[in-house]
Amino acid sequence: MDPLVASQRMAPKLLVVGGGKMGSALLTGLLAGGWAPAGDVAVSDPDPGQRKRLTEAHPGVVVVDAPIAADGALLAVKPDVAESVLRTLSAVGITRVLSIVAGLSSARLEAALQPGDVVIRAMPNTPSLIGAGVAGLSGGSAATAADLDWAEGILASVGTVVRIPERHLDAVTGISGSGPAYIFLVAEAMIEAGVSAGLTREISHQLVVGTMLGSARMMAETGDDPAELRAAVTSPGGTTAAALRTLEFKAVRSAFIEAVAAATERSKQLGR
Ligand SMILES: NC(=O)c1ccc[n+]([C@@H]2O[C@H](COP(=O)([O-])OP(=O)(O)OC[C@H]3O[C@@H](n4cnc5c(N)ncnc54)[C@H](OP(=O)(O)O)[C@@H]3O)[C@@H](O)[C@H]2O)c1
Repeated sequence: MDPLVASQRMAPKLLVVGGGKMGSALLTGLLAGGWAPAGDVAVSDPDPGQRKRLTEAHPGVVVVDAPIAADGALLAVKPDVAESVLRTLSAVGITRVLSIVAGLSSARLEAALQPGDVVIRAMPNTPSLIGAGVAGLSGGSAATAADLDWAEGILASVGTVVRIPERHLDAVTGISGSGPAYIFLVAEAMIEAGVSAGLTREISHQLVVGTMLGSARMMAETGDDPAELRAAVTSPGGTTAAALRTLEFKAVRSAFIEAVAAATERSKQLGR
């Protein structure tokens, strides 16, 4: 963009850097949450096609091809370009960054900024796209309580936020970052099972989605332990007991434990 035009404009409160799936979802959440399109948020993305989509999807939001000055930035680019993009943010005077980039530690991110600049890391998940995400949040070495509140305010626009020490972010990646894929796999398998048992695919799909939604809401609304809720639907010698015995025989519980451990370990490797 014309640097003169950029310098004459009031700096937005937040520059979303990378208007892909996650950047765009967060922008949608912030606007729905009352952030003003003109003034509060801007978005930068080098891809002309992406900028066209962003302009159409978020009328009134300033969409630029390179970073502009802002009170803070949300870093939502792929990990391989994150550090070089941070250097461009530093060059325009941005000193507070919330990164949702998977794997890159706050120490690495801080090294690409100026000494004393603030980094906050978060691991959101794809249900953020429909405002139903959950994210783990942790502060880097210079982050204060006010910085964490600022970051939580941004992420809360697309779901719930859990504050954790940074050393636990790999486990958060293994549980909730990758978690939607585990749930989708279970859904796929149950839909196939319904078809095998003689249901149409449409009916099976409807039953599985309804069961998952209802079960998740029961856990959220009652606050009960899932083990108690499971026991409550398991009559002695009944159908559910027969199914659960099969799942235990096939070691489904330990398969999940091993799967989350593998995802956590992979997240650690990617961050090295
Ligand atoms: N998707 C998830 O579930 C999820 C969950 C947690 C965390 N994350 C993290 O979120 C980040 C973004 O993921 P995503 O799925 O939203 O990726 P995405 O859809 O590929 O979006 C990234 C966007 O950043 C743009 N970009 C590239 N270089 C840039 C630059 N110099 N300045 C500004 N924008 C630039 C890309 O443009 P081009 O297409 O032209 O490269 C693309 O539009 C990743 O680091 C990922 O690890 C994702």
